[in-house]
Amino acid sequence: MPPNLEGHLFRNGPAWHNVGPDRFSHWFDAPDMVQRFSFENGRLAHFGKLVKTSRNAAEAQAGHIQFAGFGTSGPHLGTGGSADGQNTANISLLNHAGELLALWEGGSPHIINRETLDTEGRKSWSDESGGLPFGAHPREDEDGSIWNIGYSANPAALIIYHISSEGALYNTHVIPQSATPMVHDFMITRSKIVIVMPPYVASSGDGDSIVELFEWKGQNPTQLLVIDKNDLSQVTTLEMDPFWVFHFGNAYDISPTEIGFDFALHDDPGFMTKDAFAVMDGSWDGAASVKSRYVEARIDLIRKTTCLQESPEFGQVEFIQTDARENLSAHRYALMLAQPGGASEFGFNRRVLVDRTTGNASSFDADEAEILEEHLIVPKPGHLDGFWIIGTSLDWRQGITNLSVYEGLHLNDGPVFKAALDLALPLGLHGTFVRA
Ligand SMILES: [Fe+2]
Repeated sequence: MPPNLEGHLFRNGPAWHNVGPDRFSHWFDAPDMVQRFSFENGRLAHFGKLVKTSRNAAEAQAGHIQFAGFGTSGPHLGTGGSADGQNTANISLLNHAGELLALWEGGSPHIINRETLDTEGRKSWSDESGGLPFGAHPREDEDGSIWNIGYSANPAALIIYHISSEGALYNTHVIPQSATPMVHDFMITRSKIVIVMPPYVASSGDGDSIVELFEWKGQNPTQLLVIDKNDLSQVTTLEMDPFWVFHFGNAYDISPTEIGFDFALHDDPGFMTKDAFAVMDGSWDGAASVKSRYVEARIDLIRKTTCLQESPEFGQVEFIQTDARENLSAHRYALMLAQPGGASEFGFNRRVLVDRTTGNASSFDADEAEILEEHLIVPKPGHLDGFWIIGTSLDWRQGITNLSVYEGLHLNDGPVFKAALDLALPLGLHGTFVRA
């Protein structure tokens, strides 16, 4: 293990897919487990614990699924009566102002004790904002403050949060919507907030699960909202050909009237609306029903033009990551998981690091039976630009989870450290590295 690699990789994701005799219908619905991989004194230790949201605790006690969720529904399932009634806290983690928070996107964050991984209740920054939807991908500004968004279907609105570096709520700002789009991730530049709104919108249809409430309207454009950070009422709206997006890399100001960013573009939300159901009932054939690719965008806010440069040569991609030290600037490196065989092949089996200044990419392939999970760029202490790439994978043949560390600029050479756990962890979503 690199001698100066000290800290904790925390990961989150749906974990407990069966409650008693019941099975969740959708991959995103299971109660979560927070995993902690600790790099200490040259040793790696793992610890994990299920998160106790009110629904998770109630269902564990009852021994049955009791609430509808992202995709699971049924006449015998309740809605919990509030945004937090279905909250599984199972998407991502935010380490901010001394607290580790497990994030969902339809309700409140949950406070996780970093030592014991016990759940210490819901996080609320103010009486007004308590219980409101709080997105899974907050963005850190250069002063250490945090911006985030939430989307509410009823009433239809986007919510913008700004939280100080000390964890105090500066502001919440509501942008009413006629039809709420599902917005999983967003971006900030030094001067702006950038929200991409695909035409996957809450309709008036009946249904207790979130997927039942939303509808893909592929005849409509994907909208781009660019909001002035210093005056949240100043909004520029642009339209693009329709696409779906889960995750962005990083955004930056090119000039006062131009912005750039990168992301994984999907033709539509089919992974979420089809594959993530099929994976739970065993009917999935392993192919993605929708193509994705790495895209670099350049937006002119005066001419209202959008230029999307696609890089299909990397294949199917997701989980774009950038170096936090390059946040808000034209970043050089973008790390992603890729499936070079495209949508028809199973899972992600290649780590790809793109040098955006040259277009060159380095990569390292997984073993044949490995399914990759999100990998992170972890800055090296004492370096201006050196970094490691750290990530986990599930070896389904051996039934174990692996953790690998790479020298960031020598990804091609393979891991400098690889540890095999003696158990298989459920495939998760997002993580964060917290320096010791
Ligand atoms: Fe995400």
